[in-house]
Amino acid sequence: MIYLDNNATTAVHPEVLEAMLPFLKDNFLNPSSGYRAAKPVKAALQKAREQVAALINAEPDEIIFTSCGTESNNTALKSLARLVGRKNSLVVTSAIEHSAVLRPIEAMAAVGFETLTLGVSEDGRFDLEEAERQLDTQAGGKALFASLMWSNNETGVNQPIEEAVTLLKQHGAAVHSDAIQAVGKIPVDVRAVPVDMLSLSGHKLHAPKGVGALFLRKGFRLEPLLRGGGQEFGHRSGTENVPYIVGLGQACELAMTDHSTGIAVLRDHLEQRLVSEIDGVHLNGSRTHRAPNICHVSFDHCEGAGLLILLDEAGVQVSTGSACMTGKQQPSHVQKAMGFTDERAKSSLRISLSRFTTREEIDRAAEAIAKAVKKLRAIQSPLTGPVQIYS
Ligand SMILES: Cc1ncc(COP(=O)(O)O)c(C=O)c1O
Repeated sequence: MIYLDNNATTAVHPEVLEAMLPFLKDNFLNPSSGYRAAKPVKAALQKAREQVAALINAEPDEIIFTSCGTESNNTALKSLARLVGRKNSLVVTSAIEHSAVLRPIEAMAAVGFETLTLGVSEDGRFDLEEAERQLDTQAGGKALFASLMWSNNETGVNQPIEEAVTLLKQHGAAVHSDAIQAVGKIPVDVRAVPVDMLSLSGHKLHAPKGVGALFLRKGFRLEPLLRGGGQEFGHRSGTENVPYIVGLGQACELAMTDHSTGIAVLRDHLEQRLVSEIDGVHLNGSRTHRAPNICHVSFDHCEGAGLLILLDEAGVQVSTGSACMTGKQQPSHVQKAMGFTDERAKSSLRISLSRFTTREEIDRAAEAIAKAVKKLRAIQSPLTGPVQIYS
């Protein structure tokens, strides 16, 4: 099996698992318990908080542990909505956000919040000139809050986040960023970019699924989603999932060592092979502003869904978009926002590498992709166009 879908999820790093095991076995105590034996568990929680904070240049007490990235996003958005209120407010987001931002914002719109969705250019980056014009006409006199992603989960395109946040701050907005696909892949520094809140998720950086964190800038008030025993500084009640939090901390510490150059070399090698060995190949999104691990590519006259099946049979695991879109018929909202035709959007693959990907795997994957494209093109009729595997 050649696993090239690391934006869907990553393998747990062996050192992460090793760090977690003692807290699943002997050190099972509740970190809030008062007796001496619980002290190492409480200390492990604090160490993880320091490790996560260090990776994004935050203070440890600005980190709140959650159950996943989706919870971090929902907590940020719902608490901002409660704080700002729906009267005379404006919720700003972009057309390329993950569903864990878009769906909560849709729910807000359904109960009367005014929303503004920023577009992107063909390279997949926020169109800031247009955003400035839109804000000038719509934002006046309103309380604003915004959620903008740091790096896109489908295309891997890194956003002009510092400029976007600065622009929103000039309009007095409170700003959250979904940095779930950025943390651990590219530098994320909450002191350089003045976001008020930021989400990250364990399973995108070699920690397990089911653990995440929310950065909450000191002094910024949060309306908790979960009330109860007052854990996580009163911001997120519920006994902490210590083993997974320890795993997240360890994964963040490992991510302090930069692997991006080696990963980008393999990604570039893959792209070079695809472009030189297959006709009608389009590399999508900004070539310069992107995460090192992603190749997002379209093949003329070839359905991505069909390619996925042939590649799966060949033992190569990739995706057509985000994992939560798998099996859905519509072209990706991200590619539509980039101005792609339905055909181009439906003919794309997201190939995402990790620090564990090898050159041999990339070479085998390139061969399998070339073969699959050739096969699909051969069986389609020039009159009927691309073969509709799921029609
Ligand atoms: C950009 C982005 N936001 C949010 C999420 C949701 O994170 P989680 O799976 O931890 O809930 C994902 C996961 O695919 C993502 O890529």
